[in-house]
Amino acid sequence: MTTAQAPDSPIGQAAGSATVPRHIAIIMDGNGRWAAQRKLPRAAGHRAGAEAVRKVLQAAADHGIEVLTLYAFSSENWRRSKEEIADLTGLMRFYLERELKTIEKEGVRLKLIGDYAAFGRDLAGQLERAVERTKANSRLTLVVALNYGSQAEIAAAARDLATAAVAGTIDPSTIDEKAIGDRLETAGLPPLDLLIRTSGEVRLSNFLLWQAAYAELLFTDTLWPDFDERALADALSRYASRQRRFGGR
Ligand code: FPP
Repeated sequence: MTTAQAPDSPIGQAAGSATVPRHIAIIMDGNGRWAAQRKLPRAAGHRAGAEAVRKVLQAAADHGIEVLTLYAFSSENWRRSKEEIADLTGLMRFYLERELKTIEKEGVRLKLIGDYAAFGRDLAGQLERAVERTKANSRLTLVVALNYGSQAEIAAAARDLATAAVAGTIDPSTIDEKAIGDRLETAGLPPLDLLIRTSGEVRLSNFLLWQAAYAELLFTDTLWPDFDERALADALSRYASRQRRFGGR
């Protein structure tokens, strides 16, 4: 199967290889339903979801994926109960403490997108220390989206550009797709090749709206805690069987 090369577009789209995507993003959905099916509290679903993160991260590194971006907490997730938010943040803290050594050993670089400062000084500091400790790693970049919303990210880029235009440091007529892409939090990462959402929902839910312009979208009924090495391998083979045209023929 041949894969079309991306045009030399201003947003720097470059096709992933025909078979292995360079950059995968996942909307990890279905923790609550997984728990409900087992008559367990929602927190148990999130714990099982964190285990799935561990497995999928390892498998992605083994497949040679360069970037794995995970939607861990959306800017809309603040609407959840206080208890559930505390469970999720506690879980992140616990996961970071437990997994940081493995992440370092496996050559994973951690990067954060979203307004994670909203989680408070302790967790934000812990996250920043993990970013610092892993910054020289180059096998895989794990991007964790925390308190992230794509529309807010695009609005911030627009604000930056407008401010620079008013200050006279850029000419508004030069603002193009690259200018916007360069001001998104994902600037510098390879283009998104594959976006997966688990649990049967078919929505992007304000995740990487700009970055997904040419991505293959894959929706699976598997609930996130059940998404494992095999599910990732299956997603990769479905990706490899699709022909990416980037608007060409
Ligand atoms: C969606 O399931 C999942 C989340 C809102 C949180 C994702 C968090 C984790 C997988 C755990 C920790 C993450 C890291 C990076 C260690 P849902 O609760 O919306 O499920 P439902 O739709 O079935 O209710």
